[in-house]
Amino acid sequence: MKIPFHITNTEEYNRCYTESVQNPDNFWNEIASNFLWRNKWSTVLDYNFESARFNWFVNGKLNITENCIDRHLLTNSEDIAIIWEPNFENEASHFITYRELHQRVIKFALVLKNNGIQKGDRVCINMGMIPELAIAILACARIGAIHSVIFGGFSSKSIADRLVDADAKMIICCDGAFRGKKIIPIKSIIDDALKLYSKNISVIVYQRTKTKINFNPSIDKWWHEEMNKINELTDPLVILDSDDPLFILYTSGSTGKPKGVVHSCGGYMVYTAYSFVNAFQYHKGMVHFCTADIGWITGHSYIVYGPLLCGATSIIYEGIPTWPKSDRFWKIIDKHKVNIFYTAPTAIRSLMSYGLAQFENSKLNSLKVIGSVGEPINEEAWHWYYDNVGKKNCPLIDTWWQTETGGILISDLAGITKSPPSIAGKPLPGIQPVLVNEDGNEIVDYGTQGKLCIKFPWPSIIFTTYRNHDRCIETYFKPFTGKYYTGDGAYLTKYGNYRIIGRVDDVLNISGHRIGTAEVENAINSHPEVLESAIVGYPHPVKGEAICAFVIIEHQSNYTQMLRNEIENCVSMQIGSFAKPDRILQVPGLPKTRSGKIMRRILRKIASGDTNNLGDLTSLLDSSIVDKIIELNNSDQINNFEKF
Ligand code: WTA
Repeated sequence: MKIPFHITNTEEYNRCYTESVQNPDNFWNEIASNFLWRNKWSTVLDYNFESARFNWFVNGKLNITENCIDRHLLTNSEDIAIIWEPNFENEASHFITYRELHQRVIKFALVLKNNGIQKGDRVCINMGMIPELAIAILACARIGAIHSVIFGGFSSKSIADRLVDADAKMIICCDGAFRGKKIIPIKSIIDDALKLYSKNISVIVYQRTKTKINFNPSIDKWWHEEMNKINELTDPLVILDSDDPLFILYTSGSTGKPKGVVHSCGGYMVYTAYSFVNAFQYHKGMVHFCTADIGWITGHSYIVYGPLLCGATSIIYEGIPTWPKSDRFWKIIDKHKVNIFYTAPTAIRSLMSYGLAQFENSKLNSLKVIGSVGEPINEEAWHWYYDNVGKKNCPLIDTWWQTETGGILISDLAGITKSPPSIAGKPLPGIQPVLVNEDGNEIVDYGTQGKLCIKFPWPSIIFTTYRNHDRCIETYFKPFTGKYYTGDGAYLTKYGNYRIIGRVDDVLNISGHRIGTAEVENAINSHPEVLESAIVGYPHPVKGEAICAFVIIEHQSNYTQMLRNEIENCVSMQIGSFAKPDRILQVPGLPKTRSGKIMRRILRKIASGDTNNLGDLTSLLDSSIVDKIIELNNSDQINNFEKF
């Protein structure tokens, strides 16, 4: 059966979905045929859930950048690949054609080679949202180096942890990054990180902010000087195996240490392009604006790889939504005639607080599709977004996926399948979700919440966790035999649509950033006065979830605003300020079971002010602690509630 790459109506969706379940090999064989392979695969899929082994397009050979760039050159070389919108409104936008992108990627790939980078080497990238970030990513992929982009908001310590785990050979950064009124001193943060990294490393610095930096000529090199050394553009392209690693992206999990999620070349390529075209209903010539940071998976898949694989025009915006004013996104949409706009509920909720005057000078009439990602979108935000941005004219897709899934798994196909507000929708063809209860049995009835799993592999399924495959098995494939476990709770509506509730493991989702509770607790516990801590999330009108930390202090009389600031500092220094607790409550003890496990369920209820029904407390070692914590919570003086 012939499978369309681009599904254009419900009938096709149903037909493709059925085929993808009944005959996945044929389905993905057809989808993968739409790409440029140097050698065709011999087997579509070879897998084993128990050992977390997923080999897609076995023996297939390719380079993803040939698919992102070269194959558009014959007919569309003058199409715009990237529009860069700088932080400052009075600075000119840059337009990079596919032809120019080709040259700049090859040139920078040669710089990497000149600096000793080879296939398989790990290159960390820590830059602001500038085109050179995409160029650095693609240049690594061109020569088979494994890129690991680190989000610009991380602290030196977090960066150092990631450099060590990846055993990085090079770091590409910039002097500083503009974010609204602020300049983030990236190079100096890197310098501090390198004090914690004992391996030989070279640093390439792109000059963006002209911030004064410490330049150490024995390891630091300027991007522009290295580029100027390249006289001849001999293409250093390396042809890779389908399951050679393409990148590592670190993400928080239930334990204290971030995991290096690895995606492989072939499967990731096929799925990001396929999901981009279908979820957003991309058509040739459309301009796509995804507001995520490239340091997160959304930026990887839907600013860089997905759109470029499809020959789209992708916008990279350097700044923040609310600077200089809250109409910045809307101005960018009008200026560049954006057709697809993809953002996060937290951005929407923050913009909502600025009122409707922000739309007075914008038309937004180029928009065709709007999308949401990163956390559940509440109904109020959904309607505001649909009415004021989409002008009730654009399908709003609520796309559910994860770093580990590589691309969108559950979402409406814009304008084709339609779900009500706050329902993500149906799986894309090729995706087989299932809800299970605690015992691992499948839930088949509607409206019952269960743990969301996927029971058949898809091409961009996590390949491994870097240098620790056991962790990949333990986290995703051990909890429920024969299934990938997402860590999210969900239920099915009677129309077969999924409503995603959010994390059911010890992971928080703060403004769409995934943060493991253990990571924050480790940072808090590193303060010498702190004996123990427990953090939980509670509802927040803008961030979705906020962090409340319950801490036991050694010398109770010492709990002051200063100590509170120091605890916050521990988190900022060790993770990044986005993970700082919103509230810190000093407590005499924590509610623990007899086996010593903290009952976070109770703390979550207390933090959200919902103490009427705390449920069964009989398994607690000392239930009187609960009343004490409630009392302290009610009389909490130190926390600054104005922020809410
Ligand atoms: C949450 C981001 C509800 C979810 C792409 C998931 C969502 C985690 C949605 C992954 C959505 C993402 N509705 N929740 N549409 N999209 N999530 O790895 O809890 O940064 O497990 O990937 O975000 O976050 P990550």
